[in-house]
Amino acid sequence: MNNELANTIRSKVDIVDIIGERIPLVARGKNFFGVCPFHDDTNPSMSVSREKQIYTCFSCHATGNVFTFLMDYEHMDYKQVLKYLGDKVGINTNGIHISKKTTKYDKLYEAYLLATKYYQNNLNSTIGKEAKKYLLKRNITEELIKEFEIGLSLSKKDDLTNLLTSKNYELITLNRIGLSSDNHDIYNDRIMFPLYDISGKVVGFSGRIYKDNNQNKYLNTKETEIFKKGELLYHYHIAKEECRQKKSIIIMEGFMDVIRASSIGIRNTIALMGTALTKQQINLIKRLSKKIILCLDGDDPGVHATLSIGEMLSEEDLEIKVLALPNPEDPDSFILKNGKEKFNNLLEQAIKFSDFKMQKLKEKVDFRSDEEKAEYINKVIEETSKINDEIEREVVLKRLAKEFDIRYNTLEMRMNSYLRNKPKNEKIFIQKKNPEKKDKYRKAYEQIIYFMLNNDWIITQVEKENLIFPDEKLRRTCNEIIYYYKQYGKINIADFYTYIQDKEPIREFLNNVLAGDYLETTNKEELFEYFEVTRDYCKKQEIKRLTNLMKKEVDPLEQAKIVEKIRKLRLGDK
Ligand code: UTP
Ligand code: MN
Repeated sequence: MNNELANTIRSKVDIVDIIGERIPLVARGKNFFGVCPFHDDTNPSMSVSREKQIYTCFSCHATGNVFTFLMDYEHMDYKQVLKYLGDKVGINTNGIHISKKTTKYDKLYEAYLLATKYYQNNLNSTIGKEAKKYLLKRNITEELIKEFEIGLSLSKKDDLTNLLTSKNYELITLNRIGLSSDNHDIYNDRIMFPLYDISGKVVGFSGRIYKDNNQNKYLNTKETEIFKKGELLYHYHIAKEECRQKKSIIIMEGFMDVIRASSIGIRNTIALMGTALTKQQINLIKRLSKKIILCLDGDDPGVHATLSIGEMLSEEDLEIKVLALPNPEDPDSFILKNGKEKFNNLLEQAIKFSDFKMQKLKEKVDFRSDEEKAEYINKVIEETSKINDEIEREVVLKRLAKEFDIRYNTLEMRMNSYLRNKPKNEKIFIQKKNPEKKDKYRKAYEQIIYFMLNNDWIITQVEKENLIFPDEKLRRTCNEIIYYYKQYGKINIADFYTYIQDKEPIREFLNNVLAGDYLETTNKEELFEYFEVTRDYCKKQEIKRLTNLMKKEVDPLEQAKIVEKIRKLRLGDK
């Protein structure tokens, strides 16, 4: 069974190390704390337990073991995580076979896969000759065409739609997911670039014109349930591997730029694809590296975008650099004209974002005007006050004093006034999200579940007790714990998480329990008190049910019977 191998691997790694390699953790008491990467936060609301080998976020309730952490954080699937950790601890995972988790989107992904193959075939057949010529002329080689799965849609109106309907796709589905419109193919006679989600599945297309005509250069898939533009970044699935080695991420504007960079071996890149950066995308980027290099187009819109994106990213704890290309080149055209070495040189000379900003500021100033000059100096001081390093700040001020022949003290005084108004760094505290209100019954049930996860003997007790659960999630969780215990003869939360990772409702429920304030262990006497509370609950529910029944009953004799039942229940006998 895979779980046993998984449990062995899990027992050989320390979750504190694995998470600690990715987010800073601070030890406090028995646990470690860090800023939870699974929701927007600056407070350290995630706790990692070395003893239990699990993590719990008190704010968003993200909970799990080292496997779930890596799956969610690195966007790896279970198999990849096992392999990654197996390699780390020297356990061979080649033989494992894991059944794929199916989702309601599988059919949609499959449609996109079929479409990708179909478009690829077109490009590689005689009908694609002209498009191929266009690509080769742009130096998009056969190799790149293959690597980026580039294809071609035909000018006939319904080829893809027909193909997919013949494979049992309904027209309504094809319309919904952006492959057809009004029951016709959406893309006609365009070079097709597949767009991938962060795990590397094709979820959309961008189709480029390749003949002279008046249409928009690119036509993109509309927003669909699997193509959420604000939640993906072109090339992310490849970049996530590369960034680990290169220890930086390069942000570009278009996918053509990314494709070109790939041709010279630079693959720690992602493309924005003409949209404004969303909060989710920033979070995705942050996960790959703290070192970000903005390499947008060298034209005015590119500079503008660099300034605004740089500003957005500056609010995060990141090191941002800028590779400024000469106007009007983009990475694609620059590399084509100047080659790999020149581009690599620029990459090495990338400047800090704050310097880039000052440089751009300076370009606009008319230094013959005292007013503009003063305004500029002020602005530089303000920007410099944002730098955390004292020495660095002093260096900038000294340079400024020299350049404009102003007394250092004057500049320093102004700097200090900016520093005083600077927002303070967040204090460390854990903010618990308002937990949903739970009544005493709910709490008792959840407490029992938590006891079970921490104490083998309680599992046995609960099984004997034959508890009745008020809902499916509780009942299933309890049953799974008992089943797991029988299978393995012992239980711990971390391994139990591996076991239930595909059982979403249970996982969700358990996350909720683990984020609550429950006791870890107890004695028999107290346990029985909890049982008593649950029995009390069942009785109450039964009385409620009978009361309703009685209200609906028309036969007075039957009514009397029910009343008697209720009376007995109230008295406490069965
Ligand atoms: P660019 O216009 O910089 O594209 O737009 P590019 O990479 O230079 O493309 P080529 O070299 O002309 O073929 C950058 C990104 O903006 C989006 C695309 O995702 C593109 O990669 N875009 C651009 C559109 O969606 N539609 C357009 O009409 C233009
Ligand atoms: Mn461009």
